[in-house]
Amino acid sequence: MHAAGAPPVTASPAKWPVNSAPRDRRRYLTNQFRRSSSSYNGSHHYSRRSQQYWDKFYKLHKNKFFKDRHYLEKDWRGYFDDEIESSNGKVVLEVGCGAGNTIFPLISTFPKLYVHACDFSPNAITLVKSHANYSSEKMNVFVCDAAKDDLCVNVMPFTVDVVTLIFTLSAVSPCKMASVLKNCKQVLKPNGHILLRDYAVGDSAQVKLHDRNQMISENFYFRGDGTCSFYFSESYASTLFQSAGFAIVDVSTYCKEITNHSRNITMQRRWIRGIFGRS
Ligand SMILES: C[S@@+](CC[C@H](N)C(=O)[O-])C[C@H]1O[C@@H](n2cnc3c(N)ncnc32)[C@H](O)[C@@H]1O
Repeated sequence: MHAAGAPPVTASPAKWPVNSAPRDRRRYLTNQFRRSSSSYNGSHHYSRRSQQYWDKFYKLHKNKFFKDRHYLEKDWRGYFDDEIESSNGKVVLEVGCGAGNTIFPLISTFPKLYVHACDFSPNAITLVKSHANYSSEKMNVFVCDAAKDDLCVNVMPFTVDVVTLIFTLSAVSPCKMASVLKNCKQVLKPNGHILLRDYAVGDSAQVKLHDRNQMISENFYFRGDGTCSFYFSESYASTLFQSAGFAIVDVSTYCKEITNHSRNITMQRRWIRGIFGRS
């Protein structure tokens, strides 16, 4: 149970009539998406200055905050077995690479990949370039605000097999998410995919932010350090990607109960995972 006023914990808050036709259900989801994405115009202090707050974050924490993320390889194994067999020449772009906690484990698993990686924080890009496994031959790492700077300035159009958005889209204001996806679409090959991993609605961190009145707009919050975070429902993510011209390959919510025995508390963690094809 959570406190009064806390966000719903259901991963897909389905409110359409049970026996409604698929067309009605689709219309409901599209309207729900329009309501949340248009309810906020991006004018809040923390989302206007998100680049500044993320850059400060990396200046302070360096590469010590996030742990290396290995589950991406598992996601890729499940869906791209053929690609792995022939990973030679495959090209990946990670948007919002931070200090490199996704790209470096990926490169050590698939050493034949070529990796483009960008972030709008210059401090993050400096950290990636000073990593022991950084290679200017196998990697193209650059500063870019994916919501407004054209990715094609640094990456040839239609040359990328997979774009990874690993806890990046949640850091983007909902009113700018569509621009990020359109930008990614320009560099993806016609049969390319986007892999999404991010926070899902009902996550214990969302409940805390909600209880502390740190909401900017529906499911979008600012943290104590000035960075922002959005919490995705499956329906929101699906409509967002479909509206940007992607087909849904898979969308699911992963839930895990984590107990901190020393503090005697139990947390409900929720993450969304999605695979979307350029259509
Ligand atoms: C939670 S971190 C995730 C970092 C990395 N993907 C990982 O797996 O550890 C979110 C990252 O998104 C970056 N970011 C947020 N908005 C961005 C934008 N519009 N363009 C580029 N990077 C952005 C932030 O600077 C931050 O490094």
